[in-house]
Amino acid sequence: MSDEQNENVPKDEKKVTFEEMDCSTKPDSTDVAETVQDPFCDEKNPRVITFQDVCQAAFMIRGGIETTPCTRSHLSDSLGMDIYLKKEFLQFTGSFKERGARNALLHLTAEQKRAGVVSASLGNHAQAIAYHGMKLNIPVTVVMPKEASIMKIQKCRSFKANVLVQGADMAAAKTIAMEISRDKGMPYINGYDHPYIMAGQGTIGLEIVEQCDGADAVVVPVGGGGLIAGIATAIKTLSPNTKIIGVESDKCPSFSKALEHGGPIYTKNHATLADGLAVPKVGVNAYKTIVPLLDKMIVVKEEWIALAILRLVEMEKCVVEGAGASGLAAILAGHLDEYKGKKIVLLICGGNIDTTSLGRCLERGLAAEGRLIRFSVTVSDRPGGISELCKLICSCGVSIKDIMHERAWLKDIYSVEVKIVAEAADWENSQQLKRILQKHYSHVVFNDIPMAIHRAEAL
Ligand SMILES: Cc1ncc(COP(=O)(O)O)c(C=O)c1O
Repeated sequence: MSDEQNENVPKDEKKVTFEEMDCSTKPDSTDVAETVQDPFCDEKNPRVITFQDVCQAAFMIRGGIETTPCTRSHLSDSLGMDIYLKKEFLQFTGSFKERGARNALLHLTAEQKRAGVVSASLGNHAQAIAYHGMKLNIPVTVVMPKEASIMKIQKCRSFKANVLVQGADMAAAKTIAMEISRDKGMPYINGYDHPYIMAGQGTIGLEIVEQCDGADAVVVPVGGGGLIAGIATAIKTLSPNTKIIGVESDKCPSFSKALEHGGPIYTKNHATLADGLAVPKVGVNAYKTIVPLLDKMIVVKEEWIALAILRLVEMEKCVVEGAGASGLAAILAGHLDEYKGKKIVLLICGGNIDTTSLGRCLERGLAAEGRLIRFSVTVSDRPGGISELCKLICSCGVSIKDIMHERAWLKDIYSVEVKIVAEAADWENSQQLKRILQKHYSHVVFNDIPMAIHRAEAL
């Protein structure tokens, strides 16, 4: 098994049967959100949504949601698959979350619409429900944890929501929101597990079948599980031979852990480029709905997500957040090689990435394929020593980004170790530089073979 692959997730297709499923949620002291119960997400009585729920949602939200394009990717030929990108990041607030949010709001009673709703979210669901609340004239309160991005908080405020930045993390924010719901009698709308939310997200599946008939597989990023549950419900009804494949980051493998455990379980999440997927415990309704429909679950390493973000910017001119790029990351990492020559739809589900994170992702992506390189060379500390090194680097067409000199730890007091970060045209260009430097200097150290090159060479 390659080290890119989580050892808990077999590369072969995993068909999970209904009988294997146990949706009982084991109590966990870390899951503080369990202290107030959400009547729509009852672990003892999980709800499974139906195709009819999805069709009803499609009717309810029509006119208020974009029908997003599903277009053939420029990456298809180089990756040897017929890849289609379902561009949900083109929704007004930058993610698919609007579908479920609008559906849930439209199902409220007249009295509930007057009282308003409350929810907790790190960003995409908060923006979606705030925006559609504003459009439908329904008051919305969102509790956003202190770790939420400032940009997303400001966006929610611009949609006139009552935004409370409280709670250290999502679990704490959710508890606060549920308490508000209980005390003020406002319905709590879970962003991934409320049945109307899942049904709303399922409308993407209806569009995919219409836009990309006969797809062999649809790859869906998984956080709390509502998105994949809704999409699978639609697709498996209309196109039963289409495989449903989930993908999550190795920094937040909550769904894979739930599959292993036999039901949703608290899973420690770590900082991830795919912050939209960082849900420590998947939804009970989502879990029960998706498990019988799921064909394969993939856990992908973060570096591949960074590279996928870079590819989508460079090749598709799409600015996409980590969660939205994770399907492509799974292909780049080789988790979907069995679909070579086949037709596969990737859900590009969100574009809300802040500019500093985007910059970091692009740099990591460049590093992952050996275009951003790091090396050190020990040169003479006499006049012209460093200049000669720079000229050699320049002669290869490699551009220096950062340069640092270190003297104090070298044995030879007339030497200097020059540490460089540079941009090469491609991996071959960086190897050409390495060969030239090794001819001129006795001490040249390049960083390890980057991940994407390692995989390309293994093929
Ligand atoms: C951009 C993006 N993609 C995917 C997901 C996963 O959706 P779900 O939590 O319904 O599994 C989210 C969740 O917030 C998201 O924001």
